[in-house]
Amino acid sequence: EYHRWIAPGEDDLRSPCPGLNTLANHGFLPRDGRNITIPVVLNAAELVYNNPADPVLNLALKLALLTTDAPDSFTLNDLKLHGTIEHDASLSRSDSDLGDNLRFNDTIFSTLSESYTPGSTPDLDSYDPTSVGKALEQRLALAKKENPELINTIKERQLQLLETSLFLSAMGDPITGIAPKKFVQIFFREERLPLAEGWSRPVSPTNSTSLMNLMAQLGKASQNHWPWLPHPAFACPW
Ligand code: HEM
Ligand code: MG
Repeated sequence: EYHRWIAPGEDDLRSPCPGLNTLANHGFLPRDGRNITIPVVLNAAELVYNNPADPVLNLALKLALLTTDAPDSFTLNDLKLHGTIEHDASLSRSDSDLGDNLRFNDTIFSTLSESYTPGSTPDLDSYDPTSVGKALEQRLALAKKENPELINTIKERQLQLLETSLFLSAMGDPITGIAPKKFVQIFFREERLPLAEGWSRPVSPTNSTSLMNLMAQLGKASQNHWPWLPHPAFACPW
């Protein structure tokens, strides 16, 4: 009951990350989205998504501290700072140069939500690393067309593959990367744990090993627009 889903109120802060927003909407992180500390996130991610503390999560959280002036905490809203973690070509958010890089955007999300997984049946409709890799490719192509300021270096690419692996793991199976579409869509659209729909905490842990396995599969399935030329600002001058 204490951890029931409650939509954020007017004064509550949220982030560009559906994973953290969901934790806040269920009270595993402060519901106001403020004073978020590393240990609190590590505990919540372990408890809810079966993400034990791990070098990859630790690194994401250290980067999170770089989005704020506070010494050892951040607010969810801080995370929208473009270029630290937040990047272009997100699957569910607009690019910062084109609009709102913080809030869920259903038009942008349609690339993923309407993507088709060959072999899946309407009943058992699931995403897998191949189908989501294709959606990533389409999303990148759109961003490339629409955003002259698009930044897509290896850093953004790796972050995107990581975040994608995280949602497939949290909403599905961290080993296979297969996740029911229904769960994934509730997670993105409502930032809610689809408990009533039958989701439960993944049995296998999500850690660097499982994540790197999924990232490699997603990378292979989305190579058409990669490698890209780095943004001119980052091009090596020598
Ligand atoms: C995206 C932070 C953990 C799922 C993001 C973004 C940030 C962020 C700043 C925005 C990137 C963008 O521009 O797309 C963090 C931090 C975490 C964390 C600091 C701490 C460990 C998680 C977890 C999950 C998750 C545990 C899954 C359960 C996602 C997804 C996206 C994302 C799916 C991509 C959203 C999109 O494509 O629009 N995260 N995150 N994150 N995060 Fe997290
Ligand atoms: Mg983004």
